[in-house]
Amino acid sequence: MSSGRYSHGHLRFLHGNYDPVMTATTRRGLRAKLDGKRVVVCVGAGGVGKTTTSAALALGLAARGQKVAVVTIDPARRLASALGLQELSGDPRQIEPARLSAQGVEVSGELWAMMLDAKRTFDEIVARLAADEDAREEILANPVYRELSTAVAGSHELSAIAKLYELYEEHDFDVIVLDTPPSRNALDFLNAPTRLLGFLEGRALQVFLAPGGLTARLFGRGTALVFSIFARVTGIDMLAELSRFFRSLGGVIDGFGERTRGVAALLRAPETAFLIVTSPEPEPAREAVFLSDRLASAGMHRGDLIVNRVHEGGLLGRSATDVQALLAPELGDALAARVAGNLADFDVLVRRDRETIARLCGAMELRRPLLVPHLDEEVQDLLGLSRVAEHLFA
Ligand SMILES: Nc1ncnc2c1ncn2[C@@H]1O[C@H](COP(=O)(O)OP(=O)(O)O)[C@@H](O)[C@H]1O
Ligand SMILES: [Mg+2]
Repeated sequence: MSSGRYSHGHLRFLHGNYDPVMTATTRRGLRAKLDGKRVVVCVGAGGVGKTTTSAALALGLAARGQKVAVVTIDPARRLASALGLQELSGDPRQIEPARLSAQGVEVSGELWAMMLDAKRTFDEIVARLAADEDAREEILANPVYRELSTAVAGSHELSAIAKLYELYEEHDFDVIVLDTPPSRNALDFLNAPTRLLGFLEGRALQVFLAPGGLTARLFGRGTALVFSIFARVTGIDMLAELSRFFRSLGGVIDGFGERTRGVAALLRAPETAFLIVTSPEPEPAREAVFLSDRLASAGMHRGDLIVNRVHEGGLLGRSATDVQALLAPELGDALAARVAGNLADFDVLVRRDRETIARLCGAMELRRPLLVPHLDEEVQDLLGLSRVAEHLFA
């Protein structure tokens, strides 16, 4: 890790420089903060509850009358089936009100959901941008494209953003909530459009595409021999495929460039908010501060901080001995001692969480983040999501 990762925010985080008076002030609710937002992107470290909070947020907004689409990535199986997302699909589907009310959830707006299929999204974009049917078929069937789209360009990051843009441009959702991939470094996600554009407009590709460019020159040289031996051995005429591929890709590039610039603008637009999700563990919390700084320096709007799986309760400020004494008349000495012991163990987590949250507030100059408690059960159905939503919108 380079020292460049340590920003002002990090230092404030590490030093715990935090003003408790600021934290005591009341804050505006999530609903007010998301007022006028058309795109909400949930970012954060892996496993902190991004998919859960994205879905819960979408449900909460739909319950409040909005037409909402949530784009999930890799939801846990049970959650996916609760949302009616048994398979990957290219477009969001509405969750029928009957399915929602069967689980005791009432929604006055509309909740739409989809599970993102990275490879398919990429194919769809290329297919749309190709000049005609023949060019389209040629690109999609090309072995070079198949490798490239899966390995490089068809990354989850890129597809997630591309899908977002399409939903934003072509559908009439009031709000689109985007879950993000478990990318180890959030930079990948934010930079994906620029990186691809860089590749497409970059020298490497231009060299291939230029008339009389590298492709032509390679054909005329000894290299061709190497490729032809390769072709005889493997059955793949690599050079011919490459050349065909880059030629057929020509028309797609302009469309891609325009789209990519559109996406970059959308990510920075005032109607787009980034919600940073974290758990109260130190490592994800550090990641959250880093992300917050990154968003600011990239000109993107941080909506709020959600701290998920917060431990609450414990000894509630008393000593374990006091708690034991309080419980003894009801439970008897032995059981009271055991319960007090358990509460004392739990209290360690409660205090750790409180300290981490205080540091986060200091580092991110926030008054109070949104807190979602650590629930007794995993969140894997609509009722669980609505419980999380209640905390988010409390
Ligand atoms: N507040 C919570 N209380 C209890 N379990 C939770 C809570 N939030 C999320 N979970 C569980 O944690 C796991 C990871 O959540 P998930 O949303 O998939 O994380 P991410 O998308 O960030 O990787 C899931 O099994 C989910 O049910
Ligand atoms: Mg996830």
